Amino acid sequence: MDRFGQVRGGPGSAFPWTATAPQPSKTPSRTRLNGKRVPVTRRKHAGAVRCGTPHPRNRRKPKGSSRTMNESPARNVFDLMIGYWASQGVYVATKLEIPEHIDSGKTTSQELAAATDSHQHSLFQLLRFLSGIGVLQGDDEQGFHLTPTSKLLKKDSAESLRDLVLMYGEEFYRAWGNLLHNVRTGEPAFEFTFDSPMYAYFAENQESARRFDGTMSGGSFFRDLPRVHDFSKSDTVVDIAGGAGGLLCEVLEASPRTRGILFDRGHVIDSAREGIAKRKLADRVSFVEGDYTDSVPSGGDTYLLSRILHSRTDESCVNLLKNCHRAMKPGGTVIVVERTIPPSGTSSLGLWFDMHMMVLVGGAERSEQDYIDLFERSGFTFEEILPLSLDMYALVAKRT
Ligand SMILES: C[S@@+](CC[C@H](N)C(=O)[O-])C[C@H]1O[C@@H](n2cnc3c(N)ncnc32)[C@H](O)[C@@H]1O
Repeated sequence: MDRFGQVRGGPGSAFPWTATAPQPSKTPSRTRLNGKRVPVTRRKHAGAVRCGTPHPRNRRKPKGSSRTMNESPARNVFDLMIGYWASQGVYVATKLEIPEHIDSGKTTSQELAAATDSHQHSLFQLLRFLSGIGVLQGDDEQGFHLTPTSKLLKKDSAESLRDLVLMYGEEFYRAWGNLLHNVRTGEPAFEFTFDSPMYAYFAENQESARRFDGTMSGGSFFRDLPRVHDFSKSDTVVDIAGGAGGLLCEVLEASPRTRGILFDRGHVIDSAREGIAKRKLADRVSFVEGDYTDSVPSGGDTYLLSRILHSRTDESCVNLLKNCHRAMKPGGTVIVVERTIPPSGTSSLGLWFDMHMMVLVGGAERSEQDYIDLFERSGFTFEEILPLSLDMYALVAKRT
């Protein structure tokens, strides 16, 4: 499974040499409430929800291995060793706007080198490599053409992943270069690399902050949330550290009588305001800037915490959940959206992003039980866990 939830291997895959991962067959039917196993409450919803990945507990472990590997151990080492060549290749093509130029009809290495001020033969090698791994197709004689993968790298494509690729190819790539330092000392590699904690770095670097907010603005799991959880009875949904507001927009579009409050740091609010206005939801959203470690806006009945707790220590999560508990109406709901750590020996994007959170901010992903414990320590009763795409989950808890 790759980072975007695609199964590796097969035609057009960026990893044609990798065996196809076994596909889990079931979605979760049971979860735990106060330590006891109970059936998951699942609401019926219209239309197919492609709730990507079943709960880790229900995944079948590939025989004889904790992850899908090739037959040859040497080939495995090779594939692991050279993985970053593909990510840097995709990054450079994206940075040079190769997909945009191909789209405008420049398809040979000569035309593309002239358009991007690049060294022709080196660019040809990059294009040939990217064709070999399914990012492009064609050759220098017929011309290079876009595949569904490279179409997503264009600025103007719906659901463009350009910002994400640039962020991962620049700041995040440099930070990962100091993983050894991180593992030896516990200091987040990002902080060591840029001499600043990540969010302080973004507060000082407008262009990077804009790109980071862009990377946070979409995601297929955003669309899944209102399909698996009914927001129609919520008067006010408060999105804590809601970033660009993509998730809040999905909730409000699905639930026309609900109002929203987007809460985040000052430097994020302007771009959130812009994004929400573009989706014609500005009249239903209030914007509040602040620091969630102090307090959060009061008066909501549903509080969203999407991709927040994984960057905080347990103590700080309890503090933030208690801030939500204090601020919300009686009977209110908190919804935590995160990847979870699967039982040992199973594979999940949760394990990859666990490492990424460590590198960026010294954070970590948690198991479902860890979240249940955090809820209990903060005055909430865990209700259910709902699978979303890309190995994300919504963990729903009620104010006790
Ligand atoms: C990983 S992003 C998640 C954004 C959004 N919830 C989502 O899932 O796309 C984390 C967000 O937390 C915000 N943030 C970080 N520290 C904060 C703090 N102390 N108070 C308020 N917001 C904070 C950042 O500005 C950023 O928008």
